Amino acid sequence: MIRGENLRQGKLAGKTPDLHTTDILEIILNSAYEGVTVVDKNGIIVEFNDAYSRFISVDKKDAIGRPVSEVIDNTNLHHTVKTGISERGVIQYIQGQPMVVHRIPLWKEGVLVGAVGMLIFEGVTELYRIYERFLEKTAQTGKINSQKLVENTKVSNSTLDRIIGTSDAIANLKRMTRKVAKTEATVLISGESGTGKEMFAHSIHDLSHYTQGPFISVNCGAIPDHLFESELFGYEEGAFTGAKKGGKPGKLELAESGTIFLDEIGEMPQMMQTKLLRVLQEKVFERVGGIKPIQLKARVVAATNRNLKEMVQSGTFREDLYYRINVIELAIPPLRKRSEDIPILIAHFLTDICKKYEMAEKEITENAISSLMNYEWYGNIRELANIIEKVVILTDGNVIDSHHLPNYIKGQHFSSIPSLSPINQLKEEDDNKEKEIIIQAMKDSGGNKSKAADRLGIHRTTLYKKLKKHGLQ
Ligand SMILES: Nc1ncnc2c1ncn2[C@@H]1O[C@H](COP(=O)(O)OP(=O)(O)OP(=O)(O)O)[C@@H](O)[C@H]1O
Ligand SMILES: [Mg+2]
Repeated sequence: MIRGENLRQGKLAGKTPDLHTTDILEIILNSAYEGVTVVDKNGIIVEFNDAYSRFISVDKKDAIGRPVSEVIDNTNLHHTVKTGISERGVIQYIQGQPMVVHRIPLWKEGVLVGAVGMLIFEGVTELYRIYERFLEKTAQTGKINSQKLVENTKVSNSTLDRIIGTSDAIANLKRMTRKVAKTEATVLISGESGTGKEMFAHSIHDLSHYTQGPFISVNCGAIPDHLFESELFGYEEGAFTGAKKGGKPGKLELAESGTIFLDEIGEMPQMMQTKLLRVLQEKVFERVGGIKPIQLKARVVAATNRNLKEMVQSGTFREDLYYRINVIELAIPPLRKRSEDIPILIAHFLTDICKKYEMAEKEITENAISSLMNYEWYGNIRELANIIEKVVILTDGNVIDSHHLPNYIKGQHFSSIPSLSPINQLKEEDDNKEKEIIIQAMKDSGGNKSKAADRLGIHRTTLYKKLKKHGLQ
């Protein structure tokens, strides 16, 4: 097997390595079960292994040096070197046979240098054979029946499928999500703002046994301390001045048979942390002012963009609660750590946004993609989606090039130039300037706080705090 990782890092397409490494690579390539072909920037074949040669009956020496589109039927590799978008597990008809292929762009220091094509199975019939063997095996052990498998495939339109990304990190997270969704384990989703924590929380709900019930979200960062308890547990009539007649159910009660999503759990006041811990341990709670015990019958998923471990060390987050909610952790890496997902996310947002505004689909140049791949994205996918939306609206023609991108994105490179994204600018500005920027963002978004936070590339909770700080609420 050839590791895509090495290929993605351009190790094959780079300068000539020493003889020893070349030999090893040659052996790996030619003993691989998969057909492997590598093309350069212009779609010209530079590597072609024995498996590929056998499959399409073209000699290696006849393939190397020729445009890939002339050698392999229905290939898309000459487009992969233009779009930078990786495709995994797609069907391609080669010599009339449906084949499963991967197409992986090769990036080197932010520049697209080529692409690798891999034929994964010897035709999709191989897949069916594997599937049949799997069915036979599971029928024997009685662990899964085929009916259940069909049921499982039915939920394929879950939120999980809307999470875009072909990086190993995303593939692993999706795999873990599918696994943990079926269990009762409390899951903690961690990751910077805008990395997709809420999408993963929804995915767990969609794929769990609680999917028929509601998905109730609690933003722990947006609830004033004194209202927290009644928000979460509800209250009985007459519990306090201003309490509604007949009382009110809390979020935990509303989530019965469904999922309770405790978002921004790091913002939960200490008093509430203690109360929540009790509920998670005893699976029972009471409304404020009530005595009747209510069973907790909801799946609990929590999320945080703070480092809870550090908060435990500094004494601001209860250690016992941390271990209680962190049975399984889904840690979503920031976008800058999985920049190979950027091209496909760009393609996805381009299509989405052009559809939303009913415009003809715009194209994006390789240079622009390269700049976007080198930007640090502290606002992660939310920031990327916002930038693409802005650029789509502001670009007159049909092609988006790097000069259409905001100045702070153009030409920025990972380590050399410090990030100038709005989130960082805000950090550096003095208080008055910060206030001004926030007022402007609120004006621009018609007073909508979520939109204003998006514009600023900061999280809503951070915006709430800043509004409070500047007396703007
Ligand atoms: N992998 C992805 N594919 C497609 N869209 C994504 C992906 N990840 C995030 N998004 C989109 O980015 C935005 C932010 O995602 P989400 O709200 O799930 O992030 P979050 O981690 O909960 O952010 P926050 O910490 O700010 O609450 C949403 O509009 C979501 O649809
Ligand atoms: Mg969120």
